[in-house]
Amino acid sequence: MPIHLNGRSLLTLRDFQADEIQQMIDTAGDLKAAKRSGLYPRRLAHKNIAMIFLKPSCRTRASFAVAAADEGANLEVLPPEDIRFGQKESVKDIARVLGRLFDGIVFRGFEHALVAELAQWSGIPVWNALCDTYHPTQVLADFLTIREDFGRIRGIRLCYVGDGRNNLATSLIVGAAKMGVDLRILAPAKLQPSQSLVKELMTDASVGAAITVTENAREALDGCDAVYGDVWVSMGEEDLLEERVALLKDYKVTPELMRLTNRPETIYLHCLPALHDLSTDFASQHPDVCEVADEVFESPQSRVFEQAENRMHSAKAVMVLTAG
Ligand code: CP
Ligand code: NVA
Repeated sequence: MPIHLNGRSLLTLRDFQADEIQQMIDTAGDLKAAKRSGLYPRRLAHKNIAMIFLKPSCRTRASFAVAAADEGANLEVLPPEDIRFGQKESVKDIARVLGRLFDGIVFRGFEHALVAELAQWSGIPVWNALCDTYHPTQVLADFLTIREDFGRIRGIRLCYVGDGRNNLATSLIVGAAKMGVDLRILAPAKLQPSQSLVKELMTDASVGAAITVTENAREALDGCDAVYGDVWVSMGEEDLLEERVALLKDYKVTPELMRLTNRPETIYLHCLPALHDLSTDFASQHPDVCEVADEVFESPQSRVFEQAENRMHSAKAVMVLTAG
């Protein structure tokens, strides 16, 4: 029995029940299969979608644009210099105007409060395309990728390595608690999520969910089905590069680290963009700032480009389910 999600915003997966998240992932898988078969039902025909990005993006922006085009929607990119939240106009006024014109808003910004305010006052679905605290559409694509490999999400042992306080780590904790994943956060003490946050997010967690936060690589990685990476310095905190490298230099995902899973079939995931040894001139010259070694990133166990493709199918599912 399909669950009714029409009209809902996706600001964080915290706002959704496990069966609702499962429906988003299932729908993403169905839409992926339909596209592979050449089916384009145009479930968003005559819909108008606004897109506002205050931070750069390749995957998320392209995913929503392709997904909207596939489903027959018109997507309008509104440059931040035209919108100027709170400078030219209040957020509340902009939200009410956009709500009269559009059927949904894709928004990437800094503080979570801004995307929440946009949703509150626009009255239409707002999809959080990343903020400083959460990146919910990424986690939907990650879980679809995991399901494709393992046929399930519940009980999967997933180790996130890196900045355990960033938007991705927080969103993975939310997703793991909701969907029954055994998530290990491998991070130095200064970059670990607070115990109170983990406790709060684990309230009413699903069967199978477990969150372990540790500096101990052996403990974190043993038996893992998947290892997950993100950049050490998130957008907006570029000044922290030196400090982060000092904290995370022993956390680079190398073949040696992968071996600590004791399972040769463990897959590697990364939200991208990634700094891997040969990815850019900067990375080639500074392998010490790369969060993952090329031998892992380019290995047969790497699923990073499947994940990137799945961003589009999951963005499409979210739009179709909430604004279709
Ligand atoms: N993973 C992700 O959100 O990538 P972009 O920043 O390129 O959108
Ligand atoms: N933590 C990263 C995710 C990029 C998709 C950032 O916010 O820059």
